[in-house]
Amino acid sequence: ATEEATAVAHPNIALIKYWGKRDEDLVLPRVDSLSMTLDVFPTTTRVRLRADAAHDQVTLNGAPARGEALRRVVAFLDLVRERAGRAHRAVVDSENTVPTGAGLASSASGFAALAVAAAAAYGLDLDATALSRLARRGSGSASRSVFGGFAVWHAGPARGTAQEADLASHAEPVPTGDLDPALVVAVLDAGPKEVSSRTAMRRTVDTSPLYESWAASSGADLAEMRAALLAGDIETVGEVAERNALGMHATMLAARPAVRYMTPATLAVLDRVLRIRRDGVPAYATMDAGPNVKVLCRRADAGQVAAALWEAAADGTVLVAGPGPGARLLGG
Ligand code: DP6
Repeated sequence: ATEEATAVAHPNIALIKYWGKRDEDLVLPRVDSLSMTLDVFPTTTRVRLRADAAHDQVTLNGAPARGEALRRVVAFLDLVRERAGRAHRAVVDSENTVPTGAGLASSASGFAALAVAAAAAYGLDLDATALSRLARRGSGSASRSVFGGFAVWHAGPARGTAQEADLASHAEPVPTGDLDPALVVAVLDAGPKEVSSRTAMRRTVDTSPLYESWAASSGADLAEMRAALLAGDIETVGEVAERNALGMHATMLAARPAVRYMTPATLAVLDRVLRIRRDGVPAYATMDAGPNVKVLCRRADAGQVAAALWEAAADGTVLVAGPGPGARLLGG
């Protein structure tokens, strides 16, 4: 078996959100979600097995990982070791170009790259579906970054055994019609977030009176989104994405205590998106567990949208992303 492997993966942005787990250990979500994998901010991860080491050694952008970040990587490697029937510890070096913790889903590209690299290094022969299932255990959204373009992550059946649920909960590519989309990302604050998405989604499910109704409407949103993607109807794709994201944030605002990721800068950008739309350009916002705003539009309009967001995004940065590739091994 190969003793060393390097993989690259890109982040994804959900247009139908994953928010809430029904099983924290297996990372089984409460709702299906749908995303676009981006062509920016790749994570490159190398995994090398060490026969003589007593512990895993993990560096993130050259600095030793500690605390929760280290614990999550080691738990993930334990899972891979259990499946491979091998006890070797590993040296993991990950170079992440996403601003960590800024709500730009660094855990998605991170665990997708780690799943692909670790599976190869430990000699597991997994197809994309199995890699998606594995990446899910590291971070739910990572299941979608295994695939390029648009991907849907199935929650799996609510009833049944844990094994059945685990098998059913993976991502797969979503067919699209004639769509030439861009996501214009307004990075408003690249600092670390105050409440992790993991903590925030648990609190929302446990305490928000709005959660169940959002989760129920999310199923209808997904069906409408899939049809709109197939039809190449960017207006409907955008409208559904925007209402799904705003609904998710409403569930958090109603949690006890409230979780609020939107800042005045977020709202200024949301206002600008409305103005862009009033000027006749289809542009629709989505936000994750942070203040940043991602705006879906046609690629042909992306320059104009980006220019407008630059004005609104006071001290921020704006960049344009297109659909990117799925996670893959690097040769050698
Ligand atoms: C708001 O995948 O980071 O970005 O499974 O606990 O690691 P864990 O959560 P994570 O949550 C992402 C939440 C989101 C929406 C989404 O990407 O679908």
